[in-house]
Amino acid sequence: MKKLTISGGNNTSQLFIGEDYQNFKKYLPQKGQVIVLTDEKVRKLYGEAFKEYPIISIGQTEQIKTLETIDAIIDQLISFKADRTSFLLAVGGGIVCDIVGFAASIYQRGIRFGFISTTLLSQVDASVGGKNGVNHRGFKNMIGVFNQPDFVICDPKMLQTLGTEELSCGFAEIVKHTLIADKAMFEWLEKNYTKAIALHPDAIEALVSNSVEIKATIVNKDEKEQGERKKLNLGHTYGHAVEKVMGVPHGYAVSIGLVFAARLSLQMGFLSGTDFQRICSLLKNLNLPITINSKKEEVLNALTMDKKKEGDIIQFILMKGLGEAVIHPMKISDLQSVEF
Ligand SMILES: NC(=O)c1ccc[n+]([C@@H]2O[C@H](COP(=O)([O-])OP(=O)(O)OC[C@H]3O[C@@H](n4cnc5c(N)ncnc54)[C@H](O)[C@@H]3O)[C@@H](O)[C@H]2O)c1
Ligand SMILES: [Zn+2]
Repeated sequence: MKKLTISGGNNTSQLFIGEDYQNFKKYLPQKGQVIVLTDEKVRKLYGEAFKEYPIISIGQTEQIKTLETIDAIIDQLISFKADRTSFLLAVGGGIVCDIVGFAASIYQRGIRFGFISTTLLSQVDASVGGKNGVNHRGFKNMIGVFNQPDFVICDPKMLQTLGTEELSCGFAEIVKHTLIADKAMFEWLEKNYTKAIALHPDAIEALVSNSVEIKATIVNKDEKEQGERKKLNLGHTYGHAVEKVMGVPHGYAVSIGLVFAARLSLQMGFLSGTDFQRICSLLKNLNLPITINSKKEEVLNALTMDKKKEGDIIQFILMKGLGEAVIHPMKISDLQSVEF
């Protein structure tokens, strides 16, 4: 098992990679009521281990990541008589973790919380870094807070029950991390992608701990995204627009967004044609989409609504070769002229 720490402004988070999820009690506070929040599918698969606690179960899909869901959760917390000493335990993927972090941060001005992270995407990304929140009228993560969970447990065994689509989505964020900071891992994945897809235990543990380490290092330097942390948005500016317009899963949208960022980096002279092709090939080998065939205009229009733009300028993340990301101010109109 590998242990990492993230020091946030409000809290310090301990990450346990390779821990057995059934050991979760070790990490709970000594006192206070524990309430578990999960989704219906994860409850069916893993609910048995949590049956001694009150359970709040939410639906699935991005559509339920809203204030209405938070409202219903608050009602249930009140009905369970949750108070300031209560602890909210998320058991689920990125949606459950984002929702738990937000609900726990606002309930009675904040209660403690922790994550058992059950998808590859949430293990390598969503459950690390303390960003929590919900969507608003179709706009991604418009409402939320920065707040670190007490702990995050990433148990590779739980990934065995994931579908191929969910697995691929996690690989999109892993590729993102390699492109930001780890050329050696990119090259390792190029050679060993079949082992990764087959969830070979050594491969998965290395990929998860490497990804978490990259993200944790960046978050430790810049929790509130004043500078360095912006690099973690690689592929996400265009990706979020794709997700909103096409309704595809987050990781698929990120994959398409990575190719868009690579194409722009190629056009700007930061990335070679060979490296561009290597990125596309790796994503394809990991069963990820690399382009969109329709609604291009709508996606470009959605880009103009990005919450991170400042006036007409957006701090776009580009690739300087493989394994190095750079923050580059771009005019929205320049993004609209990328040949994609
Ligand atoms: N806060 C952050 O920093 C951050 C970073 C990246 C992504 N996100 C968010 O994460 C969300 C996507 O996360 P996700 O892909 O984990 O989605 P998800 O939580 O919807 O999980 C995907 C599907 O897998 C199922 N599932 C979960 N664990 C399972 C398991 N072990 N076995 C079988 N099925 C399982 C779920 O029920 C769900 O149907 C998006 O809302 C995205 O915005 C947040
Ligand atoms: Zn993402």
